[in-house]
Amino acid sequence: MKILAYGVRDDEKPYFKTWQAAHPEVTVSLTPAILDEHSVDEAAGCDGISILQTDPVGPAVFERLVKENVRAVSSRIVGTDAMALDTAKKLGIKVTNVPAYSPAAIAEFTVSQLLQLLRNTRRFEAKIHAQDFRWAPDVSQELNQQTVGVIGTGRIGRAAIKIYRGFGAKVVAYDVYHNPELEKEGIYVDTLADLYQASTVITLHAPATKDDFHMLDQDAFDQMNDGVWIVNAGRGTLIDSQALITALDSGKVAGSALDTYEKELPIFNHDLRGQQIDDPTFNNLFARENVLMTPHIAFYTNMAVKNMVTVSLDHNLSLIQTGASEDQVI
Ligand code: COI
Repeated sequence: MKILAYGVRDDEKPYFKTWQAAHPEVTVSLTPAILDEHSVDEAAGCDGISILQTDPVGPAVFERLVKENVRAVSSRIVGTDAMALDTAKKLGIKVTNVPAYSPAAIAEFTVSQLLQLLRNTRRFEAKIHAQDFRWAPDVSQELNQQTVGVIGTGRIGRAAIKIYRGFGAKVVAYDVYHNPELEKEGIYVDTLADLYQASTVITLHAPATKDDFHMLDQDAFDQMNDGVWIVNAGRGTLIDSQALITALDSGKVAGSALDTYEKELPIFNHDLRGQQIDDPTFNNLFARENVLMTPHIAFYTNMAVKNMVTVSLDHNLSLIQTGASEDQVI
């Protein structure tokens, strides 16, 4: 049996090696190329593939995979929004993801970013660097005084709720699907408008769907409390970046931690040192002291990387051998 893993980074390689050693019946080949119309040919002769990318996997790529007789596709990430799943389904391709490689990794990161916003860490770092050791005027806020509105109560949202409660913050949540445990605790509000009105912090843990594109738009910001903090480690398309800029300018939004950005593909996880970034919206947000932009790294811990590799290979092998797997998306 042969599996080709696309988009492999050096830090993933030890986990591929360990899995390979435990599965001598499978040959796992690695390529740094992401899966696209150019690299899809590399899958010829394979029984399945593992991928890690937010770059689109469009209909043409799935059609080419089927021509090569590859019908087992296992993503190493949670999000499936970049894949043309309708086409894949019609073609009889099976797709798995890894929905729980480490919800805590993402949840912890978002909380730590929020703490940095609340404590004006970036402003103090700049001042301290310039040997300005004065306190004023950068008085901070406390997390225990916040009402955190969590949008999306899947695994990551729930991990975040646990941490926020540990800090003594009040938490309200919105999701189309109600988690029974949280429901019992009465954490859910009925509408997004209710959440906007109740929250001093809003954190996004929802997947990207066609229904939630630009969920936080001008109208949404208008309904929020003045000085609200916005955290997004879900998908960039959840926020209308221009509307966020307007809300930052007016003070409606006090600050924002963005680990995703709607046009992140040409920027995040690329070495752009010394280069001009040709995206005025990104540059506007990136230049602000009260906006913490990070390159989609909330997931990036050793625990998560290990689980992404190992679980995706387990799933791919299961698809190849049995035609089905845990975490099967289609
Ligand atoms: C996901 O797992 O969906 C992520 O956003 C992580 C990233 C490696 C793309």
